[in-house]
Amino acid sequence: MTQNVERLEQELLAGIAAAADVRALEQLKVAALGRKGWVTKLMRTLGTMAPEDRKRAGPALNELKTTLAEAITARESALHREEIEARIAQETVDVTLAPRPTGEGRIHPVSQVTEEITAIFADMGFAVAEGPDIEDDFHNFTALNIPPEHPARQMHDTFYFAPQENGERMLLRTHTSPVQVRAMRAGRPPFRIIAPGRTYRCDSDQTHTPMFHQIEGLAIDHAIHMGHLKGCLETFARTFFEINSLRMRFRPSYFPFTEPSAEMDIGCDRREGEIVIGEGDDWLEILGCGMVNPRVLEQVGVDPNEYQGFAFGLGIDRAAMLKYGIPDLRAFFDSDLRWLRHYGFSPLDVPSLASGLAR
Ligand code: PHE
Repeated sequence: MTQNVERLEQELLAGIAAAADVRALEQLKVAALGRKGWVTKLMRTLGTMAPEDRKRAGPALNELKTTLAEAITARESALHREEIEARIAQETVDVTLAPRPTGEGRIHPVSQVTEEITAIFADMGFAVAEGPDIEDDFHNFTALNIPPEHPARQMHDTFYFAPQENGERMLLRTHTSPVQVRAMRAGRPPFRIIAPGRTYRCDSDQTHTPMFHQIEGLAIDHAIHMGHLKGCLETFARTFFEINSLRMRFRPSYFPFTEPSAEMDIGCDRREGEIVIGEGDDWLEILGCGMVNPRVLEQVGVDPNEYQGFAFGLGIDRAAMLKYGIPDLRAFFDSDLRWLRHYGFSPLDVPSLASGLAR
């Protein structure tokens, strides 16, 4: 018995010292001290021994157990140290190396222009709000004063999902206006928000893609009037296009959720199929806007006798095409790296009013 124990101890200690990693050590630990391990098995034999033998074997086995446990802990921390040292040796950074250019990444014009527009409106006190791409009928239409059977629903070329059990059909939002509804229902006036995001319509040609981007604006307070709307959007357009003398005009229009409604045009020149902003005597429509219809305010629980304000919706992709002279909208979503290298922006140039919007 004693000899056996000594042999076993030497064997196990040798194994522990030679364990190459934490996993191997763990296996040894289980083989020796685990519930079915060597030492545990030997301990069980104590009960079958004659009292004399047991007196000697008991303490010896206990000592064996302690010795092994100590050896395992010691080897464990040694392995741990080795591991850390190996990592430190491997992960050195040579701080004397010359800086390398930061990769090839480019910011997509849509992201760039979204950031630019956001910076302009943030400077005027607008906060960014968000809503889901998958909307329900209420937020996309009904709350915006577009009841069922309203002809405006046909104009939106909506992508619908299959009907749910209750008969309701979810849809891909056709504009960012449902975010107005969500923002007003979630908070209390005054409101001053913008909501950039993806929008969807079943439409595709050189200037339309089934997925496109809009930015919504909403300002509601006690006495916001059409003059504020004009001033705000004029400031936006001059800053965005970086043309102080930019001409603008507001044309009467119709949207169910604004009354009165208008469309804003900016002055441009069309020569040989190319559009030049800020020159010539032609006009180009860039956004829809108006005073929020009191019926919308009622739908979202804002008292139209106390509050009023304006809203606008602008196509981001088109704004990007105009500002940066990008001819075909469909190329925006082709993921062609050559296109992105040409039209993309440096990730380190974050648009801000102080640094200039884009460089
Ligand atoms: N939602 C309208 C559209 O997509 C734009 C708009 C927004 C018009 C807000 C007026 C006010 O065409």
